[in-house]
Amino acid sequence: MEKVKILFVCLGNICRSPSAEAVMKGLVKKSGKSKTFEIDSAGTAAWHAGEQADSRMQIHARKRGYDLTSISRKVDPDFDFDHFDYIIAMDEQNMTDLQDMVENEEQRLKLHMMTDFSGNYSYNHIPDPYYGGDNGFELVLDLLEDACGGLLTHLTDEQ
Ligand code: 4NP
Repeated sequence: MEKVKILFVCLGNICRSPSAEAVMKGLVKKSGKSKTFEIDSAGTAAWHAGEQADSRMQIHARKRGYDLTSISRKVDPDFDFDHFDYIIAMDEQNMTDLQDMVENEEQRLKLHMMTDFSGNYSYNHIPDPYYGGDNGFELVLDLLEDACGGLLTHLTDEQ
């Protein structure tokens, strides 16, 4: 079976999108579907390229059983827009930046907001936790656990 390929995108690829990657990988593993998904993350900015996830984000994620192992990289439009099936933005600015990179309608149709898959929350974006405190990191994880659950249900229904 063809793998479903998902790329989560935020600004720096050190807080929200690596967490989305880890949460989604955890859910997929729990449902016994790891072999049918390819899951990655990237940032619209290269400021932190080559770095591990933000240490505060790692600490909060680990408390919920997620290891943030991905290394920050910038979105590569030449590869990512053709390779991935779902390119999922954390906020409106990420979405605008991605929309500016697409080259055709097929690529545009791959773009989604993470919060489009929310079930229990009515946020329209995943708030950037970088300049805030502990609560912001916990909120990111709350929203991602909810939305990744919705995304998995959506993809399972589609298959
Ligand atoms: P992220 O958070 O986009 O969720 O990875 C941020 C990381 C770094 C910065 C801003 C947001 N920064 O300004 O360096």
